[in-house]
Amino acid sequence: MNTVALPDGTTLPPIGLGTWKMGESPRIRAAEVAAVRLAIEIGYRVIDTAEMYGEGGAEEVVGQAVSEALRAGTVTRDQLFIVSKVYPHNASRAGVGAACGRSLKRLGLDHLDLYLLYWPGSHPLRETIGGFEALQAAGRIRRWGVSNFDTGEMYELSALAGGARCAANQVYYSLSARGVEFDLLPWQRERTMPLMAYCPLDQGGLVDEPVLREVAEHHGASASQVALAWLMAQRGVMVIPKAVREAHLRENFAAAALTLHAADLAAIERRFPAPRRKLPLAML
Ligand SMILES: NC(=O)c1ccc[n+]([C@@H]2O[C@H](COP(=O)([O-])OP(=O)(O)OC[C@H]3O[C@@H](n4cnc5c(N)ncnc54)[C@H](OP(=O)(O)O)[C@@H]3O)[C@@H](O)[C@H]2O)c1
Repeated sequence: MNTVALPDGTTLPPIGLGTWKMGESPRIRAAEVAAVRLAIEIGYRVIDTAEMYGEGGAEEVVGQAVSEALRAGTVTRDQLFIVSKVYPHNASRAGVGAACGRSLKRLGLDHLDLYLLYWPGSHPLRETIGGFEALQAAGRIRRWGVSNFDTGEMYELSALAGGARCAANQVYYSLSARGVEFDLLPWQRERTMPLMAYCPLDQGGLVDEPVLREVAEHHGASASQVALAWLMAQRGVMVIPKAVREAHLRENFAAAALTLHAADLAAIERRFPAPRRKLPLAML
C-alpha cells in the first residue's frame, strides 16, 4: 500500500472513510455506527467528518463507533487519524476554538488529528490561522489545513504568518474532475502537502462507467476500485470515499492493493484526459 506523507513527516494510508450524509436520520444511525465500526475493523484509520454533516450528527456517529472500537481494543487512539472541518462562518479566531470544542464533544475525543477550514469564507484567514494555532498550542488539534482552496487561495494563505504550516488541502478530485492536476496538485507536491480527494467516486457516478468497467474486468475488480486505485497512484493524493454498505467498505479498501497496467492507464487517459489548461476548482 502506498502511503501519503504530511509536511511533518507523518505518513497516512492512501484511503480513509468519508462520512457526508451520515448522522442525518435517527432511523439509520445504528447502521451508520456499525458501518464506521466495521470500517475500523477492516483497517480504515483515517476518518473524515465535519460539523456540517448532519449538523453534528456525523461526528456523533463517528464518536460512538470510535469509542466502541477503542473499548473493544480494535485500535488505539494513536492509530486513528480523525479529521473534522469548521464552517467558514465559525472561522473567526474565537469561533474556531468554540466550534472545535463542540466537535470534540460530539466525537468524544480530546483532540483532532487534522482540522480543516471547510471553504474560504468571510473571516480574514489570518484570524482563522490564529484560532488554529491556539488550538494546536492547547493540544486540541495536532494539525490544521484547508478545503476547497484553489491555487490562488493557497498562494494567499501561504503568504500569511503561519500560513505555510497548512498541512493538507481537501478538494474534489476524481477521474471526471482532474482540473487540480494542472497547477494545484504540483504546488502541493512541492510542499509535501497531501491532497485529500473528496467525491472520488463522483458520489456513485463512476461506479458503472463503461471504460472503468472494462479495465476492471481484466483485474477481476470493480469500476469503483479502478477509479480509486487510479487516484491512489497519484503521488501525494489520498482518497476518502464514503460508504455505509459492507460490500462497498470492503471493496474500496481493497482497491489500495490494485495496480493498474500501462494499457489500463492509456484507456483511462483516453476517456478522462488530463487538463491542458487551468480549470475552475470543482466543488460540491
Ligand atoms: N471538503 C468538502 O467540501 C467535501 C465535499 C464533499 C465530500 N467530502 C468528503 O468526502 C467524502 C466522499 O465524498 P462523497 O461522500 O460526497 O462521495 P463519494 O465517496 O464519491 O461517493 C459516495 C457514494 O458512493 C457509494 N459507494 C461507495 N463505494 C462504492 C462502491 N464500491 N460501489 C458502488 N457505490 C459505492 C456510497 O454508497 P453507500 O454509502 O450506500 O455505501 C455513496 O452513495 C464525503 O463523505 C466527505 O467526508 C468533502
